[in-house]
Amino acid sequence: MKISRRFSGRDSVADLVMADYNILPVLSRFNIPLGFGNKSIETVCREANIDLNLFLLIVNFVLTGELDRSGSLSLSPAHVVDFLHNSHEYFLAYKIPHIRQNLTNALDAGHNDINPMIISFFDEFVAHLSAHFDYEEKTVFPYIRNLARGVKTDYSIEEFSKHHEEVNESLAEIKNLILRYYVTATPNRMYDVLVDICNCEEDLDSHATIENTVLIPIVGRLEEQKK
Ligand SMILES: [Fe+2]
Ligand SMILES: [Fe+2]
Repeated sequence: MKISRRFSGRDSVADLVMADYNILPVLSRFNIPLGFGNKSIETVCREANIDLNLFLLIVNFVLTGELDRSGSLSLSPAHVVDFLHNSHEYFLAYKIPHIRQNLTNALDAGHNDINPMIISFFDEFVAHLSAHFDYEEKTVFPYIRNLARGVKTDYSIEEFSKHHEEVNESLAEIKNLILRYYVTATPNRMYDVLVDICNCEEDLDSHATIENTVLIPIVGRLEEQKK
């Protein structure tokens, strides 16, 4: 459930996490160390060298489901790219391997007929996700970093926006397959995997929304300024 309250720099990080535990993976993607005591968001961001406005925009988006579009226009494109890059690493190096491991452990030997299919669906999803991130890492992000430094290349953010596809569909298919057809006498582990898959789907959705509604417009504006 989304809340309506928005947080400011004066609020504490601990209160922020209490408001919605979905903030935890965001803290992890910003590389915020644990042990923040009663420190304010402002202090933690300053100490960890994080753009406060970007941090507030993202946490308030996760909390309320609403993105402050006008506020996003003042953000530095390079800072947004850094955050998205950290998110890619978080998904590929941590979240996805964690889900795959738990999924493998939750499989029931009684289903050896469909188990390989579930794992191969999951691996197809990972391959698709990796290719999607790889394109952004190797083509889109270097273009934006260069543009921010005043170096213009042939690429344009419009090209990215035209080809930016959803990556969540195959994950939703795996979830539906398990939910509808995976009968098991000991479902606890599989329920845990489903919770992880749902969280990951939601995380990937917000990731795409930040790319589409924050990154693309601010880079478009930067392109206009550099013309
Ligand atoms: Fe991305
Ligand atoms: Fe993307």
